[in-house]
Amino acid sequence: MKLISQVSEVHEFIDEYRAQKNTIGLVPTMGFLHEGHISLMQRAANENDKTIVTIFVNPLQFAEGEDLSSYPQNLEKDINECEAIGVDLLFIPSSEEMYSQPILTSVQVDQMMSTIEGASRPTHFSGVATVVAKLFNIVGPCNAYFGEKDWQQLQVISTMARDLSFRVKVLGCPTVRQSDGLALSSRNAYLTPEEREAATAISRSLQIASENVQAGETSASVIKSQIVDEMTAEALATLDYVEIVEGSSLQTIDQITEGTRILIAAKVGKARLIDNVNPYFGIK
Ligand code: PAJ
Repeated sequence: MKLISQVSEVHEFIDEYRAQKNTIGLVPTMGFLHEGHISLMQRAANENDKTIVTIFVNPLQFAEGEDLSSYPQNLEKDINECEAIGVDLLFIPSSEEMYSQPILTSVQVDQMMSTIEGASRPTHFSGVATVVAKLFNIVGPCNAYFGEKDWQQLQVISTMARDLSFRVKVLGCPTVRQSDGLALSSRNAYLTPEEREAATAISRSLQIASENVQAGETSASVIKSQIVDEMTAEALATLDYVEIVEGSSLQTIDQITEGTRILIAAKVGKARLIDNVNPYFGIK
């Protein structure tokens, strides 16, 4: 595995890969890798000749007062994990390498960035879209793998790639969970044992909602208030939002159908956790 930190080195290897007609799988991450990230990397490795993983804690997507400076890190473990999976290129740039000049350009995806998670974090998705656009340009044509765990992020990136004609196929991968349902997240590391227990209210409320939908309830407002009740019962969790939307446009809906997605965010201790579900499938 090649471990590199310069954009120019990525270009050199990519040129070689392309000369050999290799297909390329890209997995962008912020590191502190867990089984969710690993599932994306394994799929990329299975479906492509060469696999590129990036680890970059992107300052653009963190607002003032968020956890940029305390974001968990374990580079040595991450490097070993990538090696074990058979990653070909691990790109770990510094902030100076990615943003050598003050960045004046940003990517906006209208209507998709200011709602749901974007209402709580107004600058977040522009930071995500801008860094992902840079990575897509650095790597060039490829298959790029993103988790459904960050549902709105996946829709923002798919829309950006389509609208700006990137030669990148954006592929969504299912959410990996712990056995009690909690979605894996680097931010779970912030939880105390009691908070870790309390955090299960998030996936549990989505599962209960899914069972109610499957039993015939299709009113979004009824399902929403059931989730609010379930979350309110958990003293250590504070619900930020629950939104019920059409899965790809992210438009709010009144009646739940096959394409519906329920998205939730809650604060548990120091961690702000997000999750989502298609209620006709539920938490698997
Ligand atoms: P990060 O949170 O490190 O996540 C990297 C990728 O792993 C994302 O596509 C995310 O959706 C996916 N992922 C995280 N938890 C997952 C889980 N439990 N199951 C399946 N996939 C999971 O998301 C980011 O980084 C950044 O915003 C990034 C896209 C790298 C841009 O900076």
